[in-house]
Amino acid sequence: MNRRDFLRNAAALGGLALLPPVAAAVPRVIQAKLATASLVGAQYPATRVWAYAGTVPGPELRFRQGERLRVELENLLPEDTTVHWHGVRLPNAMDGVPHVTQPPITAHGGRFLYEFELRDAGTYWYHPHLGSSGQVGRGLYAPLIVEEQEPPAVDRDVTWMLGDWRLDRRARIVEDFGNFMDASHDGRIGNTVTVNGAIREAFQLRGGERIRLRLVNAANARIFALEFRGHDPIVIALDGHPVEPHRPDGGSVVLGPAMRADVLLDATGAPGGKYAVLDDFYPRRAYRVLDLRYAKERLRSGRAGAPLPKLAANALPEPDLARAERHRIEFGGGMMGGMMGMGMMRGMAWTINGKSMPDDSHEHAAPILTLVHGRPFVFELVNDTQWHHPIHLHGHVFRVISRDGQPTRYREWLDTVLIPPRTRAEIAFVADNPGDWMLHCHVLEHQGTGMMALVRVA
Ligand code: C2O
Ligand code: CU
Repeated sequence: MNRRDFLRNAAALGGLALLPPVAAAVPRVIQAKLATASLVGAQYPATRVWAYAGTVPGPELRFRQGERLRVELENLLPEDTTVHWHGVRLPNAMDGVPHVTQPPITAHGGRFLYEFELRDAGTYWYHPHLGSSGQVGRGLYAPLIVEEQEPPAVDRDVTWMLGDWRLDRRARIVEDFGNFMDASHDGRIGNTVTVNGAIREAFQLRGGERIRLRLVNAANARIFALEFRGHDPIVIALDGHPVEPHRPDGGSVVLGPAMRADVLLDATGAPGGKYAVLDDFYPRRAYRVLDLRYAKERLRSGRAGAPLPKLAANALPEPDLARAERHRIEFGGGMMGGMMGMGMMRGMAWTINGKSMPDDSHEHAAPILTLVHGRPFVFELVNDTQWHHPIHLHGHVFRVISRDGQPTRYREWLDTVLIPPRTRAEIAFVADNPGDWMLHCHVLEHQGTGMMALVRVA
């Protein structure tokens, strides 16, 4: 009799209570609920937030590649919700899109069990996909980390989840979610940037240390461009997927909403030293996110082990560009755009291929495209507006093959591509995951006012 048979027989004989629980069979329950968080420090009152398990960010879920995630969400919020596992290639029914892949998880006690295999290693995150501007903007977001079978050797694996809040003088969330001013411009840009749920003075490190820093932009609308003064961060993965290790263009790591970057940060500063991490994405509005602060003692002399650790690629299907079917997808609207009159009167500010999909009418949505399952596709994404849009496709990962007609240097795999005003990007992928998938802007106020569409793979 092997061990499993033994356990089964013991259970049948009523000995079950004496046996240790089988961990894999028990889903982890996460409650979405009202909570308070000290976002801005002890000199201010705590902020009323909405949070997974009562903390901002919610609990970091960590798995090894190939493991199954089993999480039951219990909704204790006053609104319906869902959970979307951003960037994860999973079966359609687990994607967390209300009315498209599942019914909403009802307010005041609804539950839903999410269960799927984690095929790809990398840095992901989870968040609601219903009333997203208000729900994410009140604090519902958390990291999902999938470790490689053989993770590269680093001294520390650290996640920085970047949040952005609009707070009043008493550190209360300003309840103007969904206002048309934000929606028709660059979204809800706040006034308080947090790292892992609090304003941080410093991040402590020791000379010679090697850190894998997983950066996640969980802001509704703010774009970050992080500059690490006195350091030489190397980008090793984008949106979870390995990329040829490189210095960020222009020296700053740029992250639109929902985007992730894994950077290798070698602590080459002086013992006792202090180096600013700046965000200078918006001209004339640069500020210090925090300081890298060095302990007096070094961890080791000299640099941490060169050469760079290499990440194993995930098994993504390579699109055959010669055979790919091409589609042009246009993003329009916004202030200074063409969308005046009818659309704006209905509270819609943005369009995809001339149409607006309201946040609350998923059940009536017709797909803008039906893709033949298993075929390669190239989408030309055209930003015909004066604003930046981070465009996210569910259920798939795509290569960015060109920007404004120029081939990209790294042909990076992404799930969210930031498209600057009046520019375009070509993405290529194999439509290997059947179902109805969302294609939308991840500025949540743009998503909520029309910049969303459905793509069918069948
Ligand atoms: Cu991170 Cu459709 O979302
Ligand atoms: Cu947008």
